[in-house]
Amino acid sequence: MSLIEIKNLKVHYPIRSGFLNRVTDQVKAVDGINFNIEAGETYGLVGESGSGKSTTGKSVVGLENVTSGSILYEGVDITKGSARRNIKYNQNVQMIFQDSLSSLNPRKRVLDIIAEPLRNFQHLSAEDEKIRVLQLLDTVGLNPESLYKYPHQFSGGQRQRIGIARAVATNPKLIIADEPVSALDLSVQAQVLNFMKKIQREFGISYLFISHDLGVVRHMCQNIAIMNKGRLVEVGTREDIYEHPMHIYTKRLLAAIPEVDVAHRKERQQQRKEIEKIYQEQSSQYYDKDGLAYPLIQVSPTHFVALPEEKLAKG
Ligand SMILES: Nc1ncnc2c1ncn2[C@@H]1O[C@H](COP(=O)(O)OP(=O)(O)OP(=O)(O)O)[C@@H](O)[C@H]1O
Ligand SMILES: [Mg+2]
Repeated sequence: MSLIEIKNLKVHYPIRSGFLNRVTDQVKAVDGINFNIEAGETYGLVGESGSGKSTTGKSVVGLENVTSGSILYEGVDITKGSARRNIKYNQNVQMIFQDSLSSLNPRKRVLDIIAEPLRNFQHLSAEDEKIRVLQLLDTVGLNPESLYKYPHQFSGGQRQRIGIARAVATNPKLIIADEPVSALDLSVQAQVLNFMKKIQREFGISYLFISHDLGVVRHMCQNIAIMNKGRLVEVGTREDIYEHPMHIYTKRLLAAIPEVDVAHRKERQQQRKEIEKIYQEQSSQYYDKDGLAYPLIQVSPTHFVALPEEKLAKG
């Protein structure tokens, strides 16, 4: 049994308009996706802005109303769970956000920020709580003096580590990491990612790692799903996605990885231009008449791609 199984998940938002404020249309933010997260792994969910990544992540932590489909946590559908079951679930599934400045309460001290989930779920004495928070600060490499400081007194990378400490406070089994390093400088990104890996090894946590950047995901994820307009266009192992990409959208995301090496920059730019040209010319072959991805077809034991049968047969 997988830790998480997402089955045909749909999240549609109503659009209201007119002076009667009637529902006139809907945004299909997530439109029938399937994937599983195994215990201890980092699963990558990648796509451009607006593809539905955050909506998926928020559904998994229970912050979003699911339109249809199911999300099984250790075999139990949490979209239908009783409140009681959800308390345990909420302890086990936590989230970290891209923007640490707006996701950490500016008027609260680090002690209270990190202790908040503990207060919700466990009943520790003030002394034990402080000991636990000090341990957590140590785990993420922040010094004990941080306890009584406020979020604005830290750098972006340090703040992100406070967010990580808060997320791991209840010993969760899964952390949804929504663009956890996108707001940080490259050098600081590596630091924070290393902390995430260290914590994973120590506590056996799984991550759902959300990003628009296949460059970052490469160093973190064993399995990856590529999302476009609420659907998955390609799913596979790291090797499937980076060595044998099949969907034009995946190839385009690969070409968009920022090139750090100056010697290869020209080459990458050229490659990007070529892919863009193919994308413009052939894009209709890759999407259905509504411009949406086709259903996924299995091409190897681990690799799935959203292409029409004819296209696959031709290669
Ligand atoms: N509360 C909402 N009401 C209506 N539409 C919404 C709501 N939240 C998100 N959407 C729409 O759903 C789609 C998916 O949004 P989502 O935030 O999941 O994308 P994303 O992949 O996380 O993008 P980004 O990379 O910019 O964070 C977008 O078209 C967005 O405008
Ligand atoms: Mg998002």
